[in-house]
Amino acid sequence: MTAIVFSNVYKRFGRLEALSNINFTVPEGSFFGLLGPNGAGKSTLINLSAGLARASQGSVSVLGNDVQRDYRKTRQALGVVPQELVYDPFFSVREMLRLQAGYFGCPPSSHSYIDELIERLDLIDKADTNLHDLSGGMKRRVLVAQALVHRPQVVILDEPTAGVDVELRKNLWQFVSELHREGRTIVLTTHYLEEAESLCDQIAILNHGRVVAMDEKERLLARHPHQFLCLTLGCEGKPLPSALAPLVVKQDGCELTLKLKRDQDKIGAVLDALRDVDIPILELHTRDPGLEEVFIDITAQTNEVTHG
Ligand SMILES: Nc1ncnc2c1ncn2[C@@H]1O[C@H](COP(=O)(O)OP(=O)(O)OP(=O)(O)O)[C@@H](O)[C@H]1O
Ligand SMILES: [Mg+2]
Repeated sequence: MTAIVFSNVYKRFGRLEALSNINFTVPEGSFFGLLGPNGAGKSTLINLSAGLARASQGSVSVLGNDVQRDYRKTRQALGVVPQELVYDPFFSVREMLRLQAGYFGCPPSSHSYIDELIERLDLIDKADTNLHDLSGGMKRRVLVAQALVHRPQVVILDEPTAGVDVELRKNLWQFVSELHREGRTIVLTTHYLEEAESLCDQIAILNHGRVVAMDEKERLLARHPHQFLCLTLGCEGKPLPSALAPLVVKQDGCELTLKLKRDQDKIGAVLDALRDVDIPILELHTRDPGLEEVFIDITAQTNEVTHG
């Protein structure tokens, strides 16, 4: 079963093609990272999923229902935390959440879940404060609670931790991970790539409105054409062989990190070059790139294709 399906989706704003030929599926139960630089089209894609904007071409379905044709069903299935802080300043946190529950037709018994959300999102002290009087980070927590009041099966979070302090970010991720473990599908956009790496099991990278990478996270990292060779050398006073210079991405004394192309730069050749100049190798290991390194490579490559 699939949570969200994007079929041949295009979105144009006048002459700008904000999304081009988007075709991918968010598997049900996945923790899906939708990543990309500013302006890549992430929020536009989310708005189309939530029925807040119409695709210029193509279709989006949520749990088997077309977003445009079955708007009510898809809204019920979805909880969306928007990137923009939109709120009604005249209601308190609790009033806002009750209103939202009413909008989704939740019975008064849902109020105990609202209390639970208020507690989990650390809003107890502010539950009766007007939204207008909350700090930015607190408003964002309310938006998260608001997206969850009707217990949606699919939760989309568009940069939920922008402007949120470290402590709450940790709490929020813990909370979202629990929602995921309970069986919900989570779609997350974030610029905190280390956090996306530890949370997500599927990754799509958008750039200039196109999907430029899409895979299970482990495969995306393992199949990336680069890997890193980390060396500790006994190199005191000795210059490194000049052949290695183009490969070095980090040097801290005799600790060296080299970036190698998996199919071209051979580890053996690096070791031979060091032996030729009598530099002993005290320790070595290889590692796959992290998500941030893969992200930077892929977006840089696709920028070259677009602009060069
Ligand atoms: N309502 C709109 N009218 C015109 N252009 C728009 C509109 N909404 C978005 N865009 C443009 O579409 C492109 C994609 O914007 P979008 O907000 O989807 O990017 P994003 O990936 O969410 O970026 P960010 O990381 O900054 O949130 C941008 O060039 C943006 O200026
Ligand atoms: Mg955005």
